[in-house]
Amino acid sequence: MTLKFKKFFNIKYLGGLSKIKNIKNPIKLSANESALGPSLKAINAYNQTGKKLFRYPDGDSNNLISVISKVFNLNSKKVIIGNGSDEIISLVCQLFLKPNDEVIVTEYSFLMYRIYASIHGAKVVMANENDFTADVNNIVKKVTNKTKVVFLANPNNPTGTYLTKDEMLLLRKKLPSRILLVVDDAYQEFVNKKDFASGLNLFKNFENVIITRSFSKIYGLASLRLGWGYGSQRIIEALKLIKPPFNVNTAAQSAGIEALRDKSWLKKNIEHNLKWSQIFFENFIQLGIVTNIPVANFFLMHFENKLISADQVYNKFIKNKIILRKMKNYNLPNCLRVTIGNSDENRKFINTLKNIF
Ligand SMILES: Cc1ncc(COP(=O)(O)O)c(C=O)c1O
Repeated sequence: MTLKFKKFFNIKYLGGLSKIKNIKNPIKLSANESALGPSLKAINAYNQTGKKLFRYPDGDSNNLISVISKVFNLNSKKVIIGNGSDEIISLVCQLFLKPNDEVIVTEYSFLMYRIYASIHGAKVVMANENDFTADVNNIVKKVTNKTKVVFLANPNNPTGTYLTKDEMLLLRKKLPSRILLVVDDAYQEFVNKKDFASGLNLFKNFENVIITRSFSKIYGLASLRLGWGYGSQRIIEALKLIKPPFNVNTAAQSAGIEALRDKSWLKKNIEHNLKWSQIFFENFIQLGIVTNIPVANFFLMHFENKLISADQVYNKFIKNKIILRKMKNYNLPNCLRVTIGNSDENRKFINTLKNIF
C-alpha cells in the first residue's frame, strides 16, 4: 500500500552553502547574513538562557513584543513573533489560502512565498519584473477574483532592487481592498534612499497589509530563527490561534530583546554596509559587471555580457575559498549573488573578482 500525501510545488528551498569539500574555513558570502555578527549584548543574553533550558519558553513572547512595540512605537496587540519571519509567511498562507485561490508574486521573488502558497493548494501567479524590479502595473494586471494575497519583499531578494514609497502606496491603492498585501521588510534597515520607506512606516495602520521583519539579517541572529509580523489586530489574533504554542525559544526571545536595544551596534552595521556596498559597486562598474545599485547587503551579479559563465565564475571563487550563491533556483542561471561580509572577506572577494576579470 502506498500512503498518499498532498502534492505541491516541487522545489526544496536550498539555503546558501556553508561548506566546500576539502576546504577549511571558507568565506561564506552566500546567505545574506550579517557581516559583523550579533551584538555582544545579544550574545550575553543568549548565554544567560542556558540555565533555563528545562523551562518552556513564553509562548506569547510577551517581553519581546513589549520591547518591539516600544522601539518602533507600535500597538503591541498587532505584533506576532515567529520562528524566523519565514514562519510568519507560512502562517499567513495557512490562514488565508485554500485550494484554487491565487497568490501573486513577482518573477524573481523570494522562493518561500511560492513554496508556502502551493503547500496550501493555491495557484502561484507570476508578475513580470521590469529590469529585475517589481512592476506595480504588472502585479495589478494579474489580479483576478481568485486573488487572495500579494507578496512583495522590499528591497527584494535576490534582485537587490526596490520599489519607491510612491510605488508601494500606488500598489496598495490599485489592488482591490479585499486582497491582502504582505510587505516583507527583511532588508529594510540597510536602505539609505530618500524615496524609500519601509512597509512598517507606510502601512502600519492598514487593515489589509501585513508587514514581516527579520532578526536574521542586520541583527545577525539567523541561527536562532526569529522574526515578527505586524498587521490588524483581527488578523494577528487569528494568526496567534494557529501558531504552534511554543514557536519561539527562550534564547531567541532574550537575544532579540538585547539586539533591539543595542542601537550603537545597529548603527555600526548600517555604516559598514553603506561603506562596503559603495566599494563593491564601484568595483563592479570598473570591471563591467552588470548589477543592481547599492540598496541592501547583497548584489546580484549578471554575467550575460561576459565570455565566462556564472558557473565558471562560481568555481573560480570556490578555488579561492569564497562561496557565492548560485541562482538557478530563481531561474537566473547566469547570475550569482554575493553578500557583503566583514572587511577582510570583502577585500578577498574584490581581489578575486579583479583577478577573474
Ligand atoms: C526576502 C526575505 N524574506 C524572508 C527571509 C527569511 O528570513 P528569516 O530568517 O527571518 O526567516 C529571507 C531570508 O533570506 C529573505 O531574503
